[in-house]
Amino acid sequence: MRLLILGSRGLLGAAIHREFASEEVIAADHGALDITHERAVVATVSEVRPDLILNCAAYNNVDGAEEDPVTALTVNAFAVRAIARAAAEAGATFVHYSSDFVFDGETDRPYTEEDAPNPLSVYAASKLLGDWFALASPRAYVLRVESLFGKPGPASTRRGSLAAIVDGILEGAEVPVFVDRTVSPTHTADIGRATAHLVRSHAPPGLYHCVSTGLATWPEIAEYTAHVLGKPLRHRPMTLADARLRARRPRYCALSNAKLAAAGHIMPRWQDAIEEYLRGSGLGAGG
Ligand SMILES: NC(=O)c1ccc[n+]([C@@H]2O[C@H](COP(=O)([O-])OP(=O)(O)OC[C@H]3O[C@@H](n4cnc5c(N)ncnc54)[C@H](OP(=O)(O)O)[C@@H]3O)[C@@H](O)[C@H]2O)c1
Repeated sequence: MRLLILGSRGLLGAAIHREFASEEVIAADHGALDITHERAVVATVSEVRPDLILNCAAYNNVDGAEEDPVTALTVNAFAVRAIARAAAEAGATFVHYSSDFVFDGETDRPYTEEDAPNPLSVYAASKLLGDWFALASPRAYVLRVESLFGKPGPASTRRGSLAAIVDGILEGAEVPVFVDRTVSPTHTADIGRATAHLVRSHAPPGLYHCVSTGLATWPEIAEYTAHVLGKPLRHRPMTLADARLRARRPRYCALSNAKLAAAGHIMPRWQDAIEEYLRGSGLGAGG
């Protein structure tokens, strides 16, 4: 199988690259291919003739998107439309990654793929448009992911919220955590495995929530991480209102992965995912 990975240097892109390392992989980072350059995307796809295109590129500056909606929409929506069309033209399967932020968080149970999105921010709206454009491709998988942690790629600096919590715990510093957000924190390696399963098993294309099993608040995540590290946690409780962020965030963002399970792939519990991540980083039990 020949794969084209877009945004290959991001946190998720690096994990996807590692997951598919045994295949013929053409990895394009931002420097090699700007996905907003439609003609370059079309030329690359027709040159590479991939069986599978995985789009890990995104504009993820949630607060910045409020000031720069054009960039958010260009990268997260219109570029996705161009990639989806190029994939359809080439007869390639298309995998695209989306976000829990498409929901408004006004619920008390994990969101399913059937639940109606209601984006609260420009970033969220741009991601939702991206979902719709991607799903217009005849063989597309859109995987909604959230609160990512994982081993970064060789040239990457982005590490996610959990890495900052780990650093704070190890330094004995006070760790600020949102007390009013509920999430399903997810290991990028697990998203890689789920992606490989869907593609290799020829699961029905469509929208899948791809997150760890279970849900937690950030203080619970920080407590569990400190427990695995065998260190005390000093956490500073914060609310979304305290943080005065430019973009609104949904408070309750747990996603149900039942559809993915029905397609034959069980995601690990978030606690096990954190343990695997810490072990892989040389930290925690067995590290
Ligand atoms: N991280 C999370 O917690 C989280 C939560 C929900 C959803 N997601 C989704 O998961 C996916 C992967 O996110 P991630 O955390 O891996 O993000 P990331 O680490 O920020 O990686 C995104 C990559 O996209 C590249 N990129 C940005 N604009 C581009 C463009 N115009 N052309 C080509 N490449 C471009 C970036 O390159 P440069 O850095 O060089 O610009 C970066 O390497 C995204 O769809 C994101 O929306 C992530």
